[in-house]
Amino acid sequence: MNTVLFDVVEDYIGLITLNRPKAANAFSTELLQDLNDCMDLIEARDDLRVLIIKGSGEKAFCAGADLKERASMSKNEVVQTVKTIKETVNRVEALPMPVIAAINGAAFGGGLELALACDIRMASTEASLGLTETSLGIIPGAGGTQRLPRLIGPGRAKYLIYSARRVSSQEAYQLGMIEVLVERGKLVEQVLSEASIIAGNGPIGVRQAKEAIQSGLNTNIETGLDIEEACYKRTIPTNDRLEGIQAFKEKRKPNFSGN
Ligand code: COA
Repeated sequence: MNTVLFDVVEDYIGLITLNRPKAANAFSTELLQDLNDCMDLIEARDDLRVLIIKGSGEKAFCAGADLKERASMSKNEVVQTVKTIKETVNRVEALPMPVIAAINGAAFGGGLELALACDIRMASTEASLGLTETSLGIIPGAGGTQRLPRLIGPGRAKYLIYSARRVSSQEAYQLGMIEVLVERGKLVEQVLSEASIIAGNGPIGVRQAKEAIQSGLNTNIETGLDIEEACYKRTIPTNDRLEGIQAFKEKRKPNFSGN
């Protein structure tokens, strides 16, 4: 894997780095393959409690589809590549642990769509974001037309997608596209600190909370409440639930084992 790096940076915290800094970390065929190989690795291990995705270099998180490769593709190849980007982004969303997008720079097109598939978006003050596809004569094809309206509401999403507008991270924060805005140079530190907080909580509880939110979002409230109940029940037989109660009684920090 040359174009995607994977490390376990602290106990329970994985870090994916999109690593094509000279091409704004755009989704080349190679990078998509590497990202899928990386998903194979991550899906096969159950020790990770949080995953962080960032771009390498100072300027870009990810500039979306590789427009230079795209220029020489046949129509069928474009269809296949768009499908691969969509499926790769879906794999990220389907991971059982929380995923934080650390948006260190430009997040455009598929790059923003990747961030939208993450659970939490934290961006530095120098980042800029946009679904730029309509300015290229196409539309977002990796979930942007579906995830952005669910995140910020249909009116704001339409306003951004029809105009292909690029917004600063400050504006993105006001629009609700990102959850945390971090001062220049502090992004990695701040993201790790948030990731450590999540990793210190009961991992089964956190995963079941993600499952309840993700599955519940795509259904009606009654079904969503049933999903929540089923997810809650999975935490009841766990040692971690007993450890949480015991730690409260003993006025100490719980030490969750993930069982
Ligand atoms: N695909 C392929 N290469 C890309 C790319 C993309 N999506 N985005 C940037 N690059 C390349 C540039 O062509 C340039 O390569 P070069 O040095 O060989 O010319 C390199 O990355 C750096 O980009 P550059 O534009 O010089 O740097 P910048 O810091 O001024 O701007 C961006 C970076 C990402 C803001 C700008 O390149 C951009 O807007 N890219 C297009 C993003 C987009 O609309 N993506 C949606 C695709 S559907």
